[in-house]
Amino acid sequence: MSSCGSKIWLLANLLLIAFIAASESVDYRLNLNVLPSLYNLTIGIRGDADNPGAIFDGEVKITLQTKHIDVYRITLHTDSIEIEDCWLYNATGDLVEHIVAARLIYEQETNKLTVPLAKAMTINQNYILHFKYTGKVRTDTAGLFAVSYVEEQTKKTKWVLLTEMQNINARRVFPCFDEPAIKAKFEVHIGRPSGFNAISNTKLIRTTNEGNNRFMDHFDMTPIMSTYLLAFVISGYRARGNTSEMAIYTRPEFYQYTEFSYSVAQRALPAFENIFQTSYKELGNELFQYATTPRFPHNSMENWGLVIFKDKVVLEEKGYTDGWSQKEFTIRNIVHENSHMWFGNSVTFKWWSYVWMQEGFARFYEFFMGHKLYPEHQLDQQLVIRKVQHVFSTDALNITQPMTSPENSIQSPADIDYKFGRVSFAKAACVIRMWRNAMGGDNFDKAIRSYLKKHHLGNVEPKDLFAQLKDHWPAKQNVNLDQFFSDFTEQPGYPMITVNISQENHLIGLRQKRFLSNPGDGSDPSLRYTIPITFATNLEPNFQNLTPHMYFDKVVDVALIYSKEPIDWIILNKQQSNYYRVFYDTPILRKIQEALSKDGHSSIAVENRAQLVNDLFNFASVGMIDYAEVFQFLEYLSKEVEYIPWFAAYDGLQDVVRRLTPQQLTHFEKYLRDITAAVYSKLGVFWSSEDNVLDVYNRDMQVAWLCKFKNSDCNRQVTFNFEGNLNKPSPDYRETFYCAAARSAGYDRLLDLYQMETNFNERDLLWKSVSCTRDYRRHYQNEILNSSTSVFQKTVGLAQMYQQNPDLITSIYLMITEDIELLADALGSWSKTADVLSNMADYFTTREQEKLFSDFIDKDSKLFGDSAVTLKTALSTVNKNVQWAEQRLGKLVNFLISRNGAAAVGLTMATTLLMMMSTVLSFLLKL
Ligand SMILES: *[C@@H]1O[C@H](CO)[C@@H](O)[C@H](O)[C@H]1NC(C)=O
Ligand SMILES: *[C@@H]1O[C@H](CO)[C@@H](O)[C@H](O)[C@H]1NC(C)=O
Ligand SMILES: *[C@@H]1O[C@H](CO)[C@@H](O)[C@H](O)[C@H]1NC(C)=O
Ligand SMILES: [Zn+2]
Repeated sequence: MSSCGSKIWLLANLLLIAFIAASESVDYRLNLNVLPSLYNLTIGIRGDADNPGAIFDGEVKITLQTKHIDVYRITLHTDSIEIEDCWLYNATGDLVEHIVAARLIYEQETNKLTVPLAKAMTINQNYILHFKYTGKVRTDTAGLFAVSYVEEQTKKTKWVLLTEMQNINARRVFPCFDEPAIKAKFEVHIGRPSGFNAISNTKLIRTTNEGNNRFMDHFDMTPIMSTYLLAFVISGYRARGNTSEMAIYTRPEFYQYTEFSYSVAQRALPAFENIFQTSYKELGNELFQYATTPRFPHNSMENWGLVIFKDKVVLEEKGYTDGWSQKEFTIRNIVHENSHMWFGNSVTFKWWSYVWMQEGFARFYEFFMGHKLYPEHQLDQQLVIRKVQHVFSTDALNITQPMTSPENSIQSPADIDYKFGRVSFAKAACVIRMWRNAMGGDNFDKAIRSYLKKHHLGNVEPKDLFAQLKDHWPAKQNVNLDQFFSDFTEQPGYPMITVNISQENHLIGLRQKRFLSNPGDGSDPSLRYTIPITFATNLEPNFQNLTPHMYFDKVVDVALIYSKEPIDWIILNKQQSNYYRVFYDTPILRKIQEALSKDGHSSIAVENRAQLVNDLFNFASVGMIDYAEVFQFLEYLSKEVEYIPWFAAYDGLQDVVRRLTPQQLTHFEKYLRDITAAVYSKLGVFWSSEDNVLDVYNRDMQVAWLCKFKNSDCNRQVTFNFEGNLNKPSPDYRETFYCAAARSAGYDRLLDLYQMETNFNERDLLWKSVSCTRDYRRHYQNEILNSSTSVFQKTVGLAQMYQQNPDLITSIYLMITEDIELLADALGSWSKTADVLSNMADYFTTREQEKLFSDFIDKDSKLFGDSAVTLKTALSTVNKNVQWAEQRLGKLVNFLISRNGAAAVGLTMATTLLMMMSTVLSFLLKL
């Protein structure tokens, strides 16, 4: 599975808490007395292609066996299906027992269905348990569900019926032993009306005509696999490719948009066959299909032989959705799902507590293999900013969890959902990357091949993986591997290493401590880890060799590195290849900053430049250093032209800059102009055919910031290019460029473009762009209050107006609240109006704004009815935000003011430095 939702993450946590309180003694697990070897499954759609109906007919014959004596009951799972009848046959096909539905025992909470038997089963004998039942064609996305779309040409409504069995929804489609370790083969038969075709995990063997315009499609037997991997799609889709080997299915009018994704699919599979040294077919299925759907709970799902994607993931429409970032999204998802054929489908976790053993590897290969196949996207570098630094924020909070949970702690459906979060995906990918870097790529590949081979069609737990990694780990490394593996998989969180230098720059001292974003939140601050130490220095600025110099043992308090020559600077964790932050003592940080400002950044790797920036923002966020020091460090960026460090910089800047008052922003604007000098002069505002992918992303980001923060050259150049050139910029850059143009003279032309546009995605983009106008009064009155834009678009447009023009927020607020009933009429509700104001208040930065808002609430909150409470909550958030800024940003503002006053620069820097040193020293003492 591939998903990207932090919302899901939080929700899952709430559910988990609810569960722990509610049902401690419920047993969700099946006993393993009786095990299936084959499901012979027939699903019949009742309706026709225009109206597929809400009920389906099901029939399943499960071949099963017991190895135990005295087995009088067979327990398996069902959910939301009506059993009509049930029979037990022996291997030769004789009826052993007819069990009428009324005798079946069902337990709602655990979805367990028990079939009581009159006679004990004979051991080691095949039986066939036969159910006839009906199930629901669902309207949500769990189990078998129907989605519709309107065909653009004919305006007719078309239906697609498809499945999503993960995590535990197979039981909504057929009675089954719905646990990942209870694997079996499946033979699927789909009954459907004419006008539809069916595809499933395996090859279509034959179709029989059942009369009355109805057909039955019979599919080949699957390999032995888990229930959650079963899938079928019933649709009027058209295939690209060879339907008996590899094909992508989508609605006919989208056929032309699958050219790129098909080419990715063709590249990805052989690449995995090559690295794992097993062909896909050898795993047990000849067919590899992809299908798309307008609605799906995740981006994609790795059903064996039938991967399902949300439409938007794999469709590239020329001129609209064929930019680099969309292609990257397609590449990553296809590569991710391909790796699951090995990691997940062939070798499956024993239980959901080990979700990372599949999702971590899929995420890792998504970047690693994606980079091999499409090096122009530099996914190797992007992993550092998009995954390592991203998951660091979650993994430093109490809501995090260890990669591996004890099996018995993951029982209920909510527990299982909870394991499908960032830690199992992103953290695991980063930790797997760390292992690979520490043991070496060749050793890692060998270990993985051996693991995949040994456990083919089996189920695994972490120790099975670790055994293979250990077998292939370089013997000369001095490390307790069991400890190393368990520190990062069984403990939550990650360490921060503190580095100082002494004895005339010969001796480097390292200490470790868990990094916590919110030390009071209940997280255990005492955790320690076995940490691979890599470093480069000015004496040896080699950032390529990622083999650990040593491992920082968790029982040791201080690790020391002695250098014969005095060291100027040292950087730990080369390429941020391991999973930790590094805190440098101020003198070292100064030297690093100097080194970064030299030609070629003194060879310091681009990932480390991003790491330094990201770490500093996080240290400032928890108060270990002042933001002034971060901003002072960022002065090095005036020589930086690469996307990766800039991404880290803007990612950190956004939360701070958002809290600056309009007046303080003018100081930031000057600062921004200075630190972007090199990158802006390299990239400019106009696209070029020479651009590489990261240049395209980088320009998008730079222009978005510079034009928003009133860089006059940026705005002038955009206007000039927009007026002199009618070509559309690439989809990657279009919204930013148009938004910048709408701030000045481009508004009218963009409004025309928006009004004439029929492409759905493009209309959204144009609407967001025109809403960047500074002519807020006109836009508000003509387009937001008095037009036919949807309520959703009105709220998006309003947010754009002040977010894209931070200096206008008070004026916009005053305009709206002048007559709030106008807005309430336009939005059709007071609760939406309250939401709009509350979102806006989140951008307030001054006591004056707070006062205006509070006066408004005193005067007008009665209009809002129940939603008045939303306003009051928002007011207290404003208070908190302003207070935070008053406490935390004072030194930063002074720094900006004094650095901008050119004459005083030298002196001020020295004072600031002194002040910061004392901050750092007191921090060290507290350790
Ligand atoms: C599955 O059931 C169908 C229909 O009853 C039958 O024709 C087929 O032989 C069965 N398959 C297996 C492997 O038993
Ligand atoms: C460096 O760290 C070591 C070990 O924590 C400590 O003993 C020493 O005083 C520190 N030196 C400086 C210059 O901070
Ligand atoms: C969160 O805090 C609680 C209460 O102190 C603690 O029991 C739990 O282990 C913490 N969770 C994590 C992941 O640190
Ligand atoms: Zn996945």
